[in-house]
Amino acid sequence: MNILQFPNPRLREKSEPVKKVDEKTLAFIERLKEAMYINKGCVGIAAPQVGTLSRIVVVDVTGHKKAEQQSGLLVLINPILLIREGSVTNREGCLSVPDFTGNVERYSGTRYQYVDTDGYDRLLETSGFEAVAVQHEVDHLDGVLFIDRVRNAKRDLFKRKAY
Ligand code: NI
Repeated sequence: MNILQFPNPRLREKSEPVKKVDEKTLAFIERLKEAMYINKGCVGIAAPQVGTLSRIVVVDVTGHKKAEQQSGLLVLINPILLIREGSVTNREGCLSVPDFTGNVERYSGTRYQYVDTDGYDRLLETSGFEAVAVQHEVDHLDGVLFIDRVRNAKRDLFKRKAY
């Protein structure tokens, strides 16, 4: 799948809730997972990054050295942040912002409500790096990129040569 890159205006739009988890939704999620796993080092991707303005994210931090909590593959449909606590700063990157990484402060502990791939309401409690990855992806659903959350561009934004 083609990954949209900053400053594509579609990345700045607000995504719509998924009304029904049907076969079309599930087929799309499979393609979204492929797009995540094919990009080495990528721990998550959100539907708008491939141009689909639906509230769907996938995250998988398995094997990542910074991740204490590893829940395996997470597919979150219509995620809503219910509880937030603490703070943690990590260097973040994004397939849609390939030229930069940045230090971003986020909640260190979160609880999300979401709909799973069977259409059921679920809760996810997560912390640390995994929680950060989920927050980064959910931001995409509201048109927010990590570069928006970098406090001081001079100090906390870094140019990189290759993804
Ligand atoms: Ni991203």
